[in-house]
Amino acid sequence: MNLKCMNFVDRKTTPINDRCMMTIISGTNRPDSNTEKVARQYARLLEARGVKPHFISLVGLYVQERSDDIKQLEQDILIPSDKFIFISPEYNGSIPGVLKSFIDNTDIKKVWPGKKALLTGISTGRAGNLRGMEHLTGILHYLKVNVHHNKLPISVVHNLLNDTGEITDPSTLAAIGEQLEEFLAF
Ligand SMILES: Cc1cc2nc3c(=O)[nH]c(=O)nc-3n(C[C@H](O)[C@H](O)[C@H](O)COP(=O)(O)O)c2cc1C
Repeated sequence: MNLKCMNFVDRKTTPINDRCMMTIISGTNRPDSNTEKVARQYARLLEARGVKPHFISLVGLYVQERSDDIKQLEQDILIPSDKFIFISPEYNGSIPGVLKSFIDNTDIKKVWPGKKALLTGISTGRAGNLRGMEHLTGILHYLKVNVHHNKLPISVVHNLLNDTGEITDPSTLAAIGEQLEEFLAF
């Protein structure tokens, strides 16, 4: 754990490279997913706040075993990261199997214990993956990850995204902004 992450870091005075290492995980391998669109917007919103997150997409990643690609991601991004933002779609009332397989094939003792996580759920239905976020919370708690309380369900996402794949709805943007500010201080 990066000691600089133990306390709130002043974002105005601390150089980006001295801050916590943050990684966004887009939790599906479905090409052109709404989840990845929202996850990319989270990255832009963080950059606007002076934080440059790493980004992991599961598209094309072989997660059925501990592949070389997963080992490489582990060394380069997962192990050095202090905070994770999981943007996860709702697939049949839970998180996608590929997200669970990805987590299952990491070196769990090196990657997860003591880290922090923020969860956002995505669905075209009404629930915004509320159930999946609870399932993911249980998995992450098993892995000794501290999950932030502000879990945001983004439902009917197809009605919120514009032609360029961006959420412009003021109340959703306000909820995301509040969530990010809280997580930066977490
Ligand atoms: C395999 C699969 C299962 C799904 N199950 C649900 C579901 O249980 N509830 C729901 O509201 N939407 C469900 N959806 C629709 C997703 O909410 C929708 O595709 C949304 O855009 C998020 O997924 P995406 O990031 O893959 O686009 C499902 C989609 C797929 C591909």
